[in-house]
Amino acid sequence: MEISLIGFLVVALFNLAESDPNVLPMTENSLTQEYLMNLKNSGYNRDIMPDGIHGYGSPVEVLCTMHVLDVTKVDDLNMDYRGTLYFRQSWNDSRLSFLEQDIHSIVLNDPKYIWTPDLFFVQEREGIHHSLIVPNAFIRINPEGEVLYSVRISVTLSCPMDFKKFPHDTQKCVFTVESYGRTRDKLELSWDRRKVNPPITVNEYINLLPFEVKDVKESVIHSKFTFGEYTVLEVSIMFERKTGFFLTRLYIPFLLLVAISWVSFWIPAKMIALRLSLLLVILYIMTNIASGISDYQPPASYAKGSDVWIAVCETMVFAAFLEFIAVHIIARNKEKLEKRMLTNDPETQRVLDLDDKMNPVMSEATTSAVNMVASRLKCDYLLSKRIDKACATFFPILFVVFNLVYWLVYCTGH
Ligand SMILES: *[C@@H]1O[C@H](CO)[C@@H](O)[C@H](O)[C@H]1NC(C)=O
Repeated sequence: MEISLIGFLVVALFNLAESDPNVLPMTENSLTQEYLMNLKNSGYNRDIMPDGIHGYGSPVEVLCTMHVLDVTKVDDLNMDYRGTLYFRQSWNDSRLSFLEQDIHSIVLNDPKYIWTPDLFFVQEREGIHHSLIVPNAFIRINPEGEVLYSVRISVTLSCPMDFKKFPHDTQKCVFTVESYGRTRDKLELSWDRRKVNPPITVNEYINLLPFEVKDVKESVIHSKFTFGEYTVLEVSIMFERKTGFFLTRLYIPFLLLVAISWVSFWIPAKMIALRLSLLLVILYIMTNIASGISDYQPPASYAKGSDVWIAVCETMVFAAFLEFIAVHIIARNKEKLEKRMLTNDPETQRVLDLDDKMNPVMSEATTSAVNMVASRLKCDYLLSKRIDKACATFFPILFVVFNLVYWLVYCTGH
């Protein structure tokens, strides 16, 4: 009887407690608070690594993924590039496990409570953790003690670049992430392919001038250093230069200018001023364009693709200029003789008339000497014309051949 009464009272009390509005249900916040308190009381030390997955002494496996949010600048002057990314690390720390059934995970915003891997970017020149409005980081711990640590960071990474094919170049930039102090037998890094594959994703709306993010590849390598063997996560990014700018600012204008310089071969050698000014104006414009474009070119001690293009185009026009001078000298020989003979005797004058009209019928009165001079003159005159004609076909062919070679060499085989 007494026993059943006590039992009744106990049951009633329990019922009361359950319906008591003053006893709050366990919220996530209060759980987190309790969790952190327990962590502190259990003697958790964040300086001590967790045990590996295969127990004490085995390496802690840290799985990583990345999402590239933005690449803001590829600087070919300083040979580096800047990007913003989410960097996520995941590992097991059995000391962090908890046994609350009604909660799936504990979320913290500050990594200061728990152990975190000592990873760093080897090629980093400078970098920041974003901290607006609060530090952009979170830690999620699930009941089994698996930790996901995600941070949003911006890093400037160095990348040695090769501009031999500029502006048709593709730059391959490699960066690596590794543990600063833990060798392979303590900490093993790998890419996390459990949820996302490939483990590196890139925001497809990155609008980056003058480059385009072409290809991102990830791999894991083991590197031996003086102090041991480390696992290294390697990422290689391909940046392909957009050539549209140079096409409209350099290639098409130069193509047209070289083509216009060929008009010079069709202008008679007598029209000195016209031929001269045409070629000089073309050379002047070319020099202007070349110096204007130089602001957009990375400095290099070797000849870049654009340098080769500019040099060959300018040489083509300069060669046309030299050809004009040669033709002019040959044609002037004739004029000189013409003038000299004009003052000498009227007979020569007649021959020259014939010469001008290319009349094959020679006067009977011409002396053999005059005949010789005349034929010589004719020869010179024809020679200058012939040179012009030959150049009018030779120059375009040469330029087409050059173009074939140039575009084959510089635009293929990335
Ligand atoms: C943590 O351990 C669990 C169970 O052994 C495993 O499934 C999970 O992949 C581990 N997580 C990491 C990041 O290694």
